[in-house]
Amino acid sequence: MRTESTFLPLAEIETELLAVLAADSQTAKGADAKPAPVLLTGDDAVKAAATAVLASGEYKAGVNETVLLHSPAGLKAKRLLMVGMGKLAKVQAQGVRNAAGTAVRYTKPRGIKELALALPEADGLDAAPAARAAAEGAMVGDFDADTYKSDRKDVRIERFRLVAPETADKTSIEAAFKEGVIVGESQNFARSLVNEPGNKLTPTILGQRAAEMAQAVGLGWDVYSTEKLHELKMGAFWAVSQGSAEPPALIVLRYEPEGVMDGPILGLVGKGITFDTGGISIKPSDNMEKMKYDMAGGAAMMGAMRAIALLKPKVRVIAVVCAAENMPDGKAFKPGDVYTAMSGKSIEIINTDAEGRLVLADGINYAKQLGATHLIDAATLTGAIGVALGLVNAGAFSNDDETYAKFEEALKISGEKFWRMPLGDEYADQIKSDIGDIKNTGGRHGGACTAAEFLHVFAEDSPWIHLDIAGLAWIDDARPYIAKGPSGIAVRSIVEWVRSY
Ligand code: BES
Ligand code: MN
Ligand code: ZN
Repeated sequence: MRTESTFLPLAEIETELLAVLAADSQTAKGADAKPAPVLLTGDDAVKAAATAVLASGEYKAGVNETVLLHSPAGLKAKRLLMVGMGKLAKVQAQGVRNAAGTAVRYTKPRGIKELALALPEADGLDAAPAARAAAEGAMVGDFDADTYKSDRKDVRIERFRLVAPETADKTSIEAAFKEGVIVGESQNFARSLVNEPGNKLTPTILGQRAAEMAQAVGLGWDVYSTEKLHELKMGAFWAVSQGSAEPPALIVLRYEPEGVMDGPILGLVGKGITFDTGGISIKPSDNMEKMKYDMAGGAAMMGAMRAIALLKPKVRVIAVVCAAENMPDGKAFKPGDVYTAMSGKSIEIINTDAEGRLVLADGINYAKQLGATHLIDAATLTGAIGVALGLVNAGAFSNDDETYAKFEEALKISGEKFWRMPLGDEYADQIKSDIGDIKNTGGRHGGACTAAEFLHVFAEDSPWIHLDIAGLAWIDDARPYIAKGPSGIAVRSIVEWVRSY
């Protein structure tokens, strides 16, 4: 998708489809309160073209509600699409993101290859964040997961333009739009990795993808395998890896901006289980195919690093992705086994399906050894997080309020939903082992919290955030603005968190 921002009167835009956002300006409640849809533009020509349909009562400008006009009077555009954002008073950048995605997803299946979106104007909506959100939403909307269909229709949008008024602040809008394109593309990069099935994306191949991406955007990188795991005494990571014929990959990406010699080093650690059968504690076969997305945390870190390399914040960042396949095999690890992690802590294996925390234990430790002062990890770690928070919020845990406050600020910009969950000694007690230091499961209750406490043992006192994205990394039902399939969650928030340093 080619993207650009232009500054022209909307009536002058020659395009297959001009999308304009709309909202419901009705504030009264009760039976008489009829919806009062208004267009979020000051452009008189577009308003005139839409007068009849807005007055008809057929269109209410509800969230992501669309209506299409052909040959709109007085406009050079062939079609005028209105995309609703719901109540006017509630219009925010996140709504713009989704509306832009809705416009793209409306356009795509209809064989229309090009569209222009009017930058929405509303009280309390700043132009630059709206431009950025529009770019992100458009990129995210353009992604579909049907990669391996032999009759895959090439319905990709070729050109997306954002149109802002001539009087707007061109420099800030253009810069924000370009940032949005980078972040949206990086989110899609993560999604494309998550979408790949286990046979097409082994740990080795994930390592190759990381190296290709790093070379393309100018990141430092290393991809190691079995030997390095042994050299570093990564007993926890190896425990999971050893049951697969596919060797593990320890992926390291480095962003080292010129002239930044001191200050924090941010460590991004991702779970990269390219397929999770559960191992000897094997999962039931229903839905097991979904476990190809068990590397979504690792993919999120790769996507975030791509965006970071292109956005160039003034802070050093290291990413560590621990990629392995969790398989049952003659050489696989077993319940009851004891392994010693890189940090020296001994771990009793209770359930081989609790493998994510094992690879992350060594990944977190290694990130610290590489100099990371602040840590963030992302993982499809527990089914329990979905039980706790539904498929609405992803889980976030932190041992440091100041570090977490920065993440909360990042969420306001990213529009992603994370809910802070508790850590605590009582949860830590649940994972004490009789034979060794800790065990890899903590029983039925508070599964997401005991998993987080397991990771805490390896993060120790370093400021650290853990993101459990198991419930949100895969979207089961398509929405108007995003396809069914990998969501790319966490990429945007991690990028923003990094940029806050
Ligand atoms: N990869 C799974 C978690 C998961 C579940 C991700 C559903 C996405 C959707 C993880 O490795 C796992 O199997 N966790 C176990 C832990 C348990 C054995 C303590 C779980 O959640 O059941
Ligand atoms: Mn598992
Ligand atoms: Zn897993």
